[in-house]
Amino acid sequence: MDIDSNTDLFCLIGNPVSRSLSPLIHNTSFKCNDINSIYLTFNVIDLKKSINGIKSLGIKGFNVTIPYKEKIIDYLDEIDDLAKGIGAVNTVINLDGKLKGFNTDGLGFIKSLEERNISLHNKRVLVIGAGGASRGISMTLVNENISKLDILNRTKKRANKLVCDIKELHRELDISCIDIIDVKDKYDIVINTTSVGMFPDTKRMPIDPSVFNKETIIYDIIYKPSPTLLLKESKKQGKLTINGLDMLIYQGLLSEDIWLAKKLEKISIKNQIKRRIMEKKREIDNNK
Ligand code: ATR
Repeated sequence: MDIDSNTDLFCLIGNPVSRSLSPLIHNTSFKCNDINSIYLTFNVIDLKKSINGIKSLGIKGFNVTIPYKEKIIDYLDEIDDLAKGIGAVNTVINLDGKLKGFNTDGLGFIKSLEERNISLHNKRVLVIGAGGASRGISMTLVNENISKLDILNRTKKRANKLVCDIKELHRELDISCIDIIDVKDKYDIVINTTSVGMFPDTKRMPIDPSVFNKETIIYDIIYKPSPTLLLKESKKQGKLTINGLDMLIYQGLLSEDIWLAKKLEKISIKNQIKRRIMEKKREIDNNK
């Protein structure tokens, strides 16, 4: 990539950021789309000073990750409705010093289903987990005309809070907080948003997928390992399974649509990014 005096800088702020796939995602996309921009990561200790720096250097846009996804809201001039409902921001655009926040996490999830021609219309959905990732996905999928949403979480209070927050915005929706013993074979799609099964905790599953029938789609937003034990077992049972890598890439590419104010082609870029991720993984494995 030729960097010159017209190159725009986009970045990720968070702490830690060293293992993030975002630079690979965005720099591959910028290169493939012939966009004169680069993407870097910044390990941020003082959020306020960093935001001032971003504004004074005229950085056009940035992503936000742990632990600042909620705290960033205090520094924004505007926040879009979806991000407000979620209560967290992962994408910010800098419009001449005015910062506007968005959340593309749930939209990345929806896009990964659309690509597979899976519609959420009239579907009965179970979301496992009630943390930040669950909020992003749950708050987004309730805009897709689903017929029912159940939330299952280890800490019931947190699930109740999410159910109440969604109900406030979607009074007509059939949404409940559910206990594990009440989970029955009545869902079209089950989404794991917890960290149960994530590396290095690879021997555990958030739920036994044999309680669901063969037609239930099992979506695990974890991408390391791939597949998780949940997806391995579900596949053995003949179920359609999806991991979190496409969602991760799409949430990144959707940030670019906001920054560049245009809809970029996504499926072929996403596949190129996946190839780059595999290459990197092989390089790391070979160097071990
Ligand atoms: P994220 O932003 O990735 O969603 P988070 O907000 O910390 O992270 O949420 C983590 C989710 O995984 C929560 O739903 C959490 O359940 P609790 O609300 O009960 O903490 C869930 N989780 C994490 N470890 C878990 C475990 N060992 N068993 C069950 N659920 C777990």
